[in-house]
Amino acid sequence: MSDSRETGRHAFVVGYPIKHSRSPLIHGYWLKQFGIDGSYRAIEVSEADLPTFIANLRDGTAGYRGGNVTIPHKEQAVRLADKPDALSEELGAANTLWVENGLVYSTNTDGLGFLANLDERRPGWDRCEKAVVLGAGGASRAVIQALRDRGFSEIHVVNRTVERAQELADRFGRKVFAHPMEGLAEVLTGAGLFVNTTSLGMHGSPVPEFPLQRLAPDATVTDLVYIPLVTPLLRQAEKHGFATVDGLGMLLHQAVPGFEKWFGRRPEVTAELRQLVIADM
Ligand code: ATR
Repeated sequence: MSDSRETGRHAFVVGYPIKHSRSPLIHGYWLKQFGIDGSYRAIEVSEADLPTFIANLRDGTAGYRGGNVTIPHKEQAVRLADKPDALSEELGAANTLWVENGLVYSTNTDGLGFLANLDERRPGWDRCEKAVVLGAGGASRAVIQALRDRGFSEIHVVNRTVERAQELADRFGRKVFAHPMEGLAEVLTGAGLFVNTTSLGMHGSPVPEFPLQRLAPDATVTDLVYIPLVTPLLRQAEKHGFATVDGLGMLLHQAVPGFEKWFGRRPEVTAELRQLVIADM
């Protein structure tokens, strides 16, 4: 069989649905840049079919070095991996898989992507002790973990369903505190970072007026939502004169470790790549 997968290096992103994924564009750009004989494909796999997909990945019949997993497979992927790393195990979610010696490994690069984006766009953003995270879902967990690793001493999680924020505070222990939405103004007071990890503002949907004036004067405001690039929250922050960082860079930076694992070269997040993805939005 003259299957091209038998020669080059190949990787995938699996999700359901998958057609809106920008990962093929990102990895395709890097493959071309390095002139690598390989491919990166988006594959729609249902939750019921994921175990078979992972089994084929493990035994090599699918011909892949590894790939990304996205919604709704991030949790199941950790359970199916033979060697989840400590981070994906702790988060209970993986976004990156690779195969070594017939075993499937998993990790989660969302937190790295989050930090790298801020480091690139707003050096010094982490010179503060207090951060406020809006939302308590999967994305929030990765962000809290990253902020904790970066040394923040107070991470306040504000969520519509306060019980979910409390679960995270219990899980992460000291330094992470839970609050209901009504507590937002108080908790923003003097904070140096405000992060939206919810879908609020996606596609420009209206968001409430946040009491951002309470933030420390040199605070940074960032949003995991990147469509539109300047979200309603970031627009509010700009009006108050705060530094803002859009969420597109997190998507780009989280892709770097996977590419390096599968294709053996460490890619860069260039302005050209950013423009390419923006043009596709
Ligand atoms: P993800 O894995 O992307 O973080 P998720 O686990 O579904 O997705 O979490 C979505 C987060 O956005 C939650 O914190 C959710 O609040 P609830 O826990 O109360 O559901 C939050 N969220 C979504 N829509 C929201 C809205 N309209 N207002 C406030 N919070 C919202």
